[in-house]
Amino acid sequence: MNDTESLKDYQRVRQLAIRSLFEIIEQSSEGTVIVDRDANIVWMNERYARRFGLESAAFAIGKACESVIPGSLLREVVRTGRPILLDMQDTPKDPLVVMRLPIHDDAGAVIGAIGFALFDELRSLSPMLKRYLSMQEELASTRSLLRARQAKYNFAHFIGTSAASLEVKRRARRSASADSPVLLQGETGTGKELLAQAIHASSPRAHKAFVSINSAAIPEALLEAEFFGTAPGAFTGADRKGRAGKLQIAQGGTLFLDEIGDMPLPLQSKLLRVLQEKEFEPVGSNEVIQSDVRVIAATSTNLEAAIKRGEFRADLYYRLNVLPIQVPPLRERLDDLPALSEAILEELRSQHELAPDALALLGQHTWPGNIRELRNVLERAALLSDDLMLNASDLRAAIGTFSPVPRAASAQVVEVQANETFAAARERFDRQLIEATLAQCRGKVVDAAARLGLGRSTLYKKMAALGIEESQ
Ligand SMILES: Nc1ncnc2c1ncn2[C@@H]1O[C@H](COP(=O)(O)OP(=O)(O)OP(=O)(O)O)[C@@H](O)[C@H]1O
Ligand SMILES: [Mg+2]
Repeated sequence: MNDTESLKDYQRVRQLAIRSLFEIIEQSSEGTVIVDRDANIVWMNERYARRFGLESAAFAIGKACESVIPGSLLREVVRTGRPILLDMQDTPKDPLVVMRLPIHDDAGAVIGAIGFALFDELRSLSPMLKRYLSMQEELASTRSLLRARQAKYNFAHFIGTSAASLEVKRRARRSASADSPVLLQGETGTGKELLAQAIHASSPRAHKAFVSINSAAIPEALLEAEFFGTAPGAFTGADRKGRAGKLQIAQGGTLFLDEIGDMPLPLQSKLLRVLQEKEFEPVGSNEVIQSDVRVIAATSTNLEAAIKRGEFRADLYYRLNVLPIQVPPLRERLDDLPALSEAILEELRSQHELAPDALALLGQHTWPGNIRELRNVLERAALLSDDLMLNASDLRAAIGTFSPVPRAASAQVVEVQANETFAAARERFDRQLIEATLAQCRGKVVDAAARLGLGRSTLYKKMAALGIEESQ
């Protein structure tokens, strides 16, 4: 056989192969569709037409391919002249594996395209596709979970250029690149949670979950399961299947331990083990799980005092206190008031502005609820005032129970009782304040908490500590 002979043979083989390839594909395919150079359908088999809800293929003729097959890429094939050899096409039923080829005329110009739907029944077709589908599902659910668990705040949200604020931000930023525990200490409403989220968002763990757990908000009996999860069969009922704990959900990411000062002692020991050994066991299980979380803890109570009272483990405190950040109260960074107020009003989508006397008044208040309280005050003032320029009296009304007292004059207003300790005087003040606010809010704790700029659970705790009963 000479060269020309074999070449001739090859062409023949090729022709035969093309023909049989086409026939096999056409016969075994779930559907075939042909479009012209404008991507209008010129032919479609009946089976394919029915899949897209048409009674007959005749209804498809002359229509743009996408109007019959949503998401069709045949137009792109006609435009580029390039085939799309394997792709997935969604249909009202299951997805299909499709192949799209351009059709050339004798001169080589693209005159249309042909699409084959190769198979349906993807799930039974091959283990590979089955895996593909289950991975798709897993990816979608992981993505949505992660989206819900991603940090809402970054450092740009922490407003403030006073020296105290800049120092806090500097320390927090520096801690972001480390992996050691961070301990945020500061009064209620000073931005501890905001900072925790910002640290996570600029850490190498930013693309993983930020999971928070609040020891003050969860009943003690449930806290351990919430933390470590439960093993299958550990409980009857809803938890029979076992449930992942926050530690597991936070794997690879950051675990934010809010109000760590309220963590019960037995759990403190277990947390210490997690920090030291980097492992834990779900409740009711013997399985040891390796943990990879970065811990950020926050507290508004004084942990050193809690240690002295025997309520907090000293060893846990030292383990957490690696990168301590003291978040100062608002009254110690009054320079931030104008910027904070502006940012808050903007965030509230309010058109209101503060008159100079209003700003001056804000500077005289002591802000026990800190920035959360400032936010509440501005929101209330903006709601109550039709005038877009808020003045001092608008704010005084919004601050409500607190009559701002000029700092210099404050000593004359405080009632001094002989032999009273600081702690006793403070308790007396707290009781009077809370009782007066509750009375003004007709006993409604939720409203009183909002007015005081405190979280509801914080106010309940203070009431319990002071022996103030909730009126019915
Ligand atoms: N520097 C800041 N700039 C802008 N907004 C802030 C700032 N600090 C706090 N905030 C806002 O104040 C509110 C309270 O902040 P956050 O919840 O972080 O306080 P917290 O210290 O965790 O309080 P708590 O101890 O009561 O839980 C939030 O709405 C937060 O966005
Ligand atoms: Mg908080």
